[in-house]
Amino acid sequence: MSAVKKIAVLTSGGDSQGMNAAVRAVVRSALYYGIEVFGIQRGYQGLLNREIRSMDLRSVGDIIQRGGTILQSARCKEFMTAEGQQKGADILREYGIDGLVVIGGDGSYQGANKLSKLGIKTMCLPGTIDNDIAFTDFTIGFDTAVGIVVDAVNKLRDTMSSHERSSIVEVMGRHCGDIALYAGLASGAETILVPEVPFSIDDVANRMKDNFEHGKRHSIVIVAEGVGRGEDIAKGITERVDVDARVTVLGHIQRGGCPTHNDRVLGSRLGDYAVRMLMEGQSGKSCGVIKGELVMTDIDTVVNTKKAFDMELYDLALRLSK
Ligand code: ADP
Ligand code: F6P
Repeated sequence: MSAVKKIAVLTSGGDSQGMNAAVRAVVRSALYYGIEVFGIQRGYQGLLNREIRSMDLRSVGDIIQRGGTILQSARCKEFMTAEGQQKGADILREYGIDGLVVIGGDGSYQGANKLSKLGIKTMCLPGTIDNDIAFTDFTIGFDTAVGIVVDAVNKLRDTMSSHERSSIVEVMGRHCGDIALYAGLASGAETILVPEVPFSIDDVANRMKDNFEHGKRHSIVIVAEGVGRGEDIAKGITERVDVDARVTVLGHIQRGGCPTHNDRVLGSRLGDYAVRMLMEGQSGKSCGVIKGELVMTDIDTVVNTKKAFDMELYDLALRLSK
């Protein structure tokens, strides 16, 4: 006997590659287990606007390879209010929906937490390129975003080497430096600047000077947006070192394109897991994967925990980038 008979799924906040794989998994797993499933268009805004449609097997066909989200995403101010949240819960009840899967980042988790506290059986899946959700090793979209940054840095390296320049690459990550960290390590960046680790521009400049003096033909600096603008970092460097620096802001390119197999697998596993856990009567949980294993953690705990920064990986990147 399933604890839920009718569920809904929505995507909210910044989109990420692999959200479609997760939506597909929620819909197809629900149908497989005989549960009716609805898609809510445009996140919490669509919920308040009653943009709710029935999903069938074909409604999620041909999407696993697509970036973005077929359910679309939105930011919704009204849902930040207690009245908006109550209205959302009432609408779900009006449709007879007794379980909800929210795919999104930290803000979307906060919203889901409110719905859960209003008695809606709610499960969250970490859908964000930032990898800033605690109690999961990786979020859906992070792997693809890192791949995009690495690909861009490969290209920048070619031209920076030819001209013996420095490349300052600004990447996404408002509060979390994971994109910068993983992409920096994977692309052999000389310096990685993240919000979690204080830095001095003098150290960055001295390191660069020293490396050029010891035969380096280019230098790559990856800056997470949470640290500040790439332009300001470049200015700080060129005031201290006689180097030709060029800034590249990768921006929303990092949020698009074909999801990697890792993000598709992660989205598929988590989507299916959320449905099975709802059927078992679970609610108010975030689904994640830790060391390869599916795990569930209270949304309340997740939203109140800052994801730990991997200092070991950061130190490794520094050691290897001489
Ligand atoms: P993300 O989920 O990518 O972090 P946002 O922070 O923009 O994106 O959040 C997405 C939406 O989640 C917001 O537009 C809002 O509707 C809802 N939300 C965010 N924070 C809260 C909150 N504290 N309470 C209720 N809803 C929230
Ligand atoms: O998805 C997360 C994120 O990409 C952040 O790194 C970035 O600051 C933000 O979203 C920008 O999103 P938007 O332009 O949609 O507000």
